Amino acid sequence: MSRIAYVNGRYVPHRRAAVHIEDRGYQFADGVYEVIAVREGCLVDRGPHLKRLKRSLSELGIPRPMTDAALCHVLAEVVRRNRVADGMVYLQVTRGIAPRDHAWPKGMRPAVVATAKSLRGPSAEMREQGVKVVSLPDLRWKRCDIKSVSLLPNVLAKQTARAAGAFEALFLDEAGRVTEGSSTNAWIVTKKGELLTREADEAILNGVTRQAVIALARKAGLKFVERSFTLREAQSAAEAFLTSTTAFVVPVVALDGKRIGDGRPGPFTRRLGEEYRDYVARFARKGAS
Ligand code: PDD
Repeated sequence: MSRIAYVNGRYVPHRRAAVHIEDRGYQFADGVYEVIAVREGCLVDRGPHLKRLKRSLSELGIPRPMTDAALCHVLAEVVRRNRVADGMVYLQVTRGIAPRDHAWPKGMRPAVVATAKSLRGPSAEMREQGVKVVSLPDLRWKRCDIKSVSLLPNVLAKQTARAAGAFEALFLDEAGRVTEGSSTNAWIVTKKGELLTREADEAILNGVTRQAVIALARKAGLKFVERSFTLREAQSAAEAFLTSTTAFVVPVVALDGKRIGDGRPGPFTRRLGEEYRDYVARFARKGAS
């Protein structure tokens, strides 16, 4: 079956889907996006994703392209037309098309693209074995809270990590504190049993998975503290893990070539991983498409 994409009001074959060469997303990375997980055809945490999309758009002064109801319809239709049971939806909104100029003209119409694809989801191996990460300086701008398509430092960091045989790069700010991963939020469990993740300031993206895992940790009565932690603290942590829409909860077992804890996924990580998987499964049962 051929894949279908939504492009500015039309459902078109994926291989022929195209945007204008003067789309400001293409020329200036002037746009935002969301990645939403699909489980049994249902969108996971659709509400928080749409809320964050609206916030990203408003921070950049891009008008909302359509109502939430219309957007939900498009997303559900892209999932349906691509027959995705388990996978993800990618939604991108750019400022639109205009002759190239840094400043934009009045009255621009945002451009919208949505695609969906099947994914097997995070592997059991990753969950059982954990992954390696490397630390790198955070070279990004000062508004990482906006989910902008401007991802050059992120893609370069991910590539560096992969070339080093690692799953992810952890960004470090100028004070040596971990901000987040190149496409994930970062967490540690201290030897005192405190669960830490950086506060959702402008240095990180407030992950939807992060928010769900915070709620699960609170419900489970874990000692959760929302604060930044340094590279040193991460190196001497009992456990570390990453969260994201596509990776869920991934245990980190090595940082810059050194073992974290005993080098195996720890009990907090396993527990939150299981709770998050159950949480995702509940969306499918509720049929929240
Ligand atoms: N990445 N931090 C960054 C920089 C991210 O790009 C992402 C998501 C996250 C986690 O956010 P969430 O839990 O809402 O997925 C944190 C997506 C999945 C991506 O770019 O593919």
